Amino acid sequence: MKLLVTGGAGFIGSNFIRYMLKEHPSCWVINLDKLTYAGNLENLRDCENNPRYKFVKGDICDAKVVNRLTAQVDAVVNFAAETHVDRSILTPESFIETDVRGTFTLLEAAKKYKIKRYIQISTDEVYGSIAKGSFTEKSHLSPNSPYSSSKAGGDLLVRSYFITYKVPTIITRSSNNFGPAQYPEKIIPLFITNALEDKPLPLYGDGKNVRDWLYVVDNCRAIDAVLQRGREGEVYNIGGGNEITNRVLTNLILKQLGKPSSLIVRVPDRPGHDRRYSLDCSKLKKELKYAPDTDFTTALTETVNWYCTNQSWWKKLKNKDFKKYYAQQYKTKS
Ligand code: NAD
Ligand code: TYD
Repeated sequence: MKLLVTGGAGFIGSNFIRYMLKEHPSCWVINLDKLTYAGNLENLRDCENNPRYKFVKGDICDAKVVNRLTAQVDAVVNFAAETHVDRSILTPESFIETDVRGTFTLLEAAKKYKIKRYIQISTDEVYGSIAKGSFTEKSHLSPNSPYSSSKAGGDLLVRSYFITYKVPTIITRSSNNFGPAQYPEKIIPLFITNALEDKPLPLYGDGKNVRDWLYVVDNCRAIDAVLQRGREGEVYNIGGGNEITNRVLTNLILKQLGKPSSLIVRVPDRPGHDRRYSLDCSKLKKELKYAPDTDFTTALTETVNWYCTNQSWWKKLKNKDFKKYYAQQYKTKS
């Protein structure tokens, strides 16, 4: 199978490309990535010389490059997106552009070149927040941030291209991923790297917001299962089954690093902060016989170790664009 993977230089996309090249010796991958602040070719250094892998720098909103590449493949897996909620609150426009217009551009190409499979990588955040119980694939979309609403916009376009044009689309909605090579703006890598530098860990609000944590390799396995065996026109939730509050998560990270809880600082809450995400993943289990098989504590330890041994990877990033963003973030919070 020849795949066009978009956003493959980012966190989940790079883990997915590595996974697919390893698990499927007949799989070829073209990686289309704009290399925004979150795209990093270092994430795929070990795949660079693989004859079944090719990188193309480009924007998913650019129909010319998207058409040229889509014409060469059997399937498209769209990871490319602006992904950070806090950035979407500060500067929402690029989210609308990439997550909505970019998805539209890919869908048009998928239609034009009669692609065999189009997989949209979406998020549990499109459902909004839930106090009790869990969202199923049939739950209403109630996104609360510019990030989640732009992702929901993309999902609705995907749905309409299946219904109207019979483009063979499938949407995956996963919970919060963690693992190696996640950009250090998201809570787990931010808190690990800040703790390693003895810098404060800014915990939003009361620290009792709940997220469900999914190890990135388990998500890659699930996306592979959906790509091979998922039903067209369907949505599949992918959760980790590890719901914890941010405070508990923060204490686990500090404990693993042997750092004191005095590093935690409470900062004003994120505007519109979703209280709890929770997914019902019985459809994935029943139809595709998939369940995550990585133990959360083991995976968190491995992740902490990865950031300990790859300090040059994150130090470079934190010294670049991140500094400006972080300063802007805390100017609005104080
Ligand atoms: P990321 O921010 O690490 O990477 C995004 C990648 O997309 C980067 O390589 C960036 O350069 C590229 N990109 C951005 N705009 C582009 C454009 N216009 N054209 C081409 N490339 C572009 O993101 P991630 O955490 O790996 O997330 C990947 C996907 O998974 C996203 O669609 C996100 O919404 C979804 N998702 C992420 C999580 C999570 O916890 N990280 C959870 C659920 C769903
Ligand atoms: P994040 O990693 O940004 O993912 P998302 O908002 O997409 O779930 O945040 C995860 C949780 O951690 C969320 O409840 C917000 C919280 N958080 C903090 O408390 N402090 C931080 O500095 C960050 C980045 C997040």
